[in-house]
This record gives sequence, structure tokens and C-alpha cells, in this order.
Amino acid sequence: MVAERKMQPPLPPPEHHRRVLRFVVFLAVSLLAFSCWALVNSRINVALPDSAVLTPALTAQGDRRPAGDPASIPPAVPASGNATARAVKLSDPVIREPLAGEGEGEGERERSKRCDAGSAALRVYVYDLPAEFHFGMLGWDGKGKAAAWPDVRDAGAVPHYPGGLNLQHSVAYWLTLDILSSALALPPGGRPCVAVRVANASLADVFFVPFFASLSYNRHSKLRRGERASRNRVLQAELVKYLMRKEEWRRWGGKNHLVVPHHPNSMMEARKKLSAAMFVLSDFGRYSPDVANLKKDVIAPYMHVVRSLGDADSPAFDQRPVLAYFQGAIHRKAGGKVRQRLYQLLKDEHDVHFTYGSVRQNGIRRATAGMSTSKFCLNIAGDTPSSNRLFDAIVSHCVPVIVSDDIELPFEDVLDYSEFCVFVRAADAAKKGFLLRLLRGISRDEWTKMWMRLKEVAHHFEFQYPSRSGDAVQMIWGAVARKMHSVQLQIHKRGRYQRTGSES
Ligand SMILES: *[C@@H]1O[C@H](CO)[C@@H](O)[C@H](O)[C@H]1NC(C)=O
Ligand SMILES: *[C@@H]1O[C@H](CO)[C@@H](O)[C@H](O)[C@H]1NC(C)=O
Repeated sequence: MVAERKMQPPLPPPEHHRRVLRFVVFLAVSLLAFSCWALVNSRINVALPDSAVLTPALTAQGDRRPAGDPASIPPAVPASGNATARAVKLSDPVIREPLAGEGEGEGERERSKRCDAGSAALRVYVYDLPAEFHFGMLGWDGKGKAAAWPDVRDAGAVPHYPGGLNLQHSVAYWLTLDILSSALALPPGGRPCVAVRVANASLADVFFVPFFASLSYNRHSKLRRGERASRNRVLQAELVKYLMRKEEWRRWGGKNHLVVPHHPNSMMEARKKLSAAMFVLSDFGRYSPDVANLKKDVIAPYMHVVRSLGDADSPAFDQRPVLAYFQGAIHRKAGGKVRQRLYQLLKDEHDVHFTYGSVRQNGIRRATAGMSTSKFCLNIAGDTPSSNRLFDAIVSHCVPVIVSDDIELPFEDVLDYSEFCVFVRAADAAKKGFLLRLLRGISRDEWTKMWMRLKEVAHHFEFQYPSRSGDAVQMIWGAVARKMHSVQLQIHKRGRYQRTGSES
């Protein structure tokens, strides 16, 4: 068998050869023809709109939508695209009004964009005080107009707060503008939804008293010729009378009312009479503990006066040649003695900047430059435990060094200040060499960590209108909402037996 196989002829006959050759030529010509066709075809496809080459599978998917629904225009997504992704994409840029018969997911999205009494954390009833208590002080003349409030739809046209140092305590102004804007039909997603204004007092969590108390102190404290009492005093007396007549105040003795005497000297006459209310304050320095305390009141930041640094143009460790910066009055009354002591300790250090004088108009630019080129900014107790310097330091991304034992800080229940501030007890700061050793001992890495955190938190200290999510205005509403929980607890407890008529 093996020998036989070896004997067979090794090559195919010539007839077979020719057939193979013909087949190869045919194959080559066919391939060439096919590639020419493919090339021409692809050119045509590029020139045509996507919709002209829709696959039947995709059109079938589109057909599942109800007729007349704009979404039945076939979407330009690959047939393999995932349905969730497509639905989100479709509803985004084009379709704005809620459509009848649309998917449940869509309806939920629309609902979540609206800010109403159901979705806000805090429902606020705003007293329609006469204009002289608020925007009247800013030149807005409410008289003769039907509206109790200025038109806040155009942010550029709302009455302006006087600039300069008055702005530090402008908290009531920003809160009022924001809560007024909640009545507007703003575009969906346009306004943060922490607090919302309600017209029906029985729906309110808190009653807002829109008195610009700090401005009244700044502007109207001086006794004018022929007056027996300053305008600031008269307004306070009228406010007390107004509130005491209100059923809403009398019901719970004012407990669920919000008043904003942010300037330490504002509402000197009325603060005791209204002390049941929740106050928004800069600190407790000039309050007795029964009038104001952390249990019922909210600490709000000062509005900073230096320019905020953008994230991109914030000098890093090596671009800040000054180790420590302080600007302010050195000689102060009781409580500020540590300033004088620190001045003596630090005045001869080459990399410490210690200057007299408050931040006045032309000083603002110098302070902006000074703080943004310093690694640490000193906040030393003055005649009040707090000052706007802390907030100037924060927006300059200059790590605050807080030497003020009694200071209360805004939003400390949600912010850990030790992540971006250095705290030093006044007694320690007064020791020779203590502060410098501490600051020089903070490594570049440690400092940079605090600086990065400062950049993250700085927006919590910005006041603006329109307010933005997470800014000072929203943070204050949030703090008020959290405080209201304990007020609600007291109120609910007191109301336990209202159905059976007995007083608790
Ligand atoms: C579909 O897309 C959505 C939205 O982009 C995504 O969350 C989801 O994980 C995707 N599902 C699948 C199966 O890819
Ligand atoms: C206010 O709300 C209460 C409780 O929901 C309701 O009973 C009352 O009718 C409302 N008042 C007005 C004027 O809408």
C-alpha cells in the first residue's frame, strides 16, 4: 500500500491549473469591484443626514412613543444606546414644558425642580412691615405703590445697600431679597430651595421680621435737631409695638420669629423685649446670656470687604512671602489687650506684617493684597470677639489664626474650622515666642492642606443676590432650619393637650 501511494503522479494535470488561475482572477476582479462600490457608497452616506440611514430597529423603538409627542422624532443615538440615557438626553435641551402623558421619570424631574412649601427645608412667613423698616432706608419709596415690596425680578434693579463698611452687617438685606425671590416663577432649578416664602401663616415654620436693624443703627443713631429720640430708637419702639399686637407673635411668645440684629450695637433698645425670638448675630459679645445664646440663636458671617480670590489666582505657599498678617486697631478696650501684647511680641519680626488702623476705603485694596500674599492671617479678639477680618482672611485663602477665646463661628455644626484655621488660646499667644514657633513649625504640606480646604469652603461666606446654592444666604437659612427643630419640639410639646382643652 505504501509503495503504491508513492507511485502516484505528484502534480495535477494542466487542465486543473487553468481552472485555479481563472478562479483567482475572478476573485481579484470581484474584490476590486466591491471595494469601488463600498468607497462610493460611504461618500454618499457622509453627505446624507443621519435620519436618512436609520435602521428599522431604531424607528420601531421611536414608534413606541405616543403619536404627536415631539420625542417621536428619532433620536440620534446608536441603536445599542441604553434607554435611560436616551430619555434623559431627550428631555434636556429641547422640551421644557411638562407634556401630557409623558413618562413618570420625567414628571418627577419637573417636580423636583420646583421650590414650594412641600420641598423646602424651611417655610417662611414674611411680615409686610412698612418700607421705613427696610428698603425705605435704601431710598425705595413704597408709598403710593400697591406693592409692599420692591420688584426683585431684575437683580440689577433692586435697591442697593450702601457700600463700604456698612456692608459688613448687611445680612438682613440679603436674606430679605432671597426670600422675596422665592415667590417668583424663576426658571426651574434657578433658585436654591432651602427656604421658601409662604403666604399662609398657618403653614409657616418661622416668621421673618424684615427689619434692617444694622442699617438703622449705622444710619439713624444720631439725634437730629428737634428730635427727642433718634430714628433708630423710634423704629425699634414701633417694631416692638407692631409685633406685640400680632396674633402670630403672641401665640408662642415670639419663639418662632426670626430677627436679624447682626451689628453688635443694633437693636440695643428692643433686643431684650424681643429676646424670645431667634436672632441672627455676629457674636454674643454685647448680649447678656438670657437675651442671646447659642441654644436659640444663629451666628452669621460678616460680609467680607476684601476682594475674593478666584481658585486659579490664589497664591500658593511659596508665593506668600509674609508669614503672618494683621491689620486693625491695636489699642482697644477690655478684651483686646492681647492685641497690644502680640504687637509688642511680633513688631520686630521681618516676615510679620502688623499695621494699625481699620480697613477703610483705600485700605481695602491694600488689605486684599496683604492677605493674599500672607500664609497666615491673625484674628485677635478686639472689643468684640468676632470681626470681619476672619471672613476677609477666608476669601483671601490666608489661613486664619484665631486668638479669641470667646469667639462663636458661623455654621460650626456643619463646618469643622480646625481643618482650615489654627486656634490659639489667648494665654498661650501671650507667651514669648509661642505663636512664631507654632506658625513656623507648620509644614508646607500641612499649610497646603488647610489652603485647599479654604478654597473649598470660601463660597459659604459669600453674600449675593441672586443667592446661589451653598452661599452664606443659604447656609443661614439652613442653620435657622436646624435650630427650628428644637423650637418645634418645644411648641409641639406645649400643644399636646390642646384637643382636651387643658393647658400644660
Ligand atoms: C444607562 O445610562 C444611565 C444614564 O447614563 C446609566 O446610569 C446606566 O448605568 C446605564 N445602564 C446601562 C445598562 O448601561
Ligand atoms: C391656610 O392653611 C390652613 C391649613 O392648611 C387652611 O386650613 C387655611 O384654609 C389656609 N388659609 C388660607 C387663607 O388659605
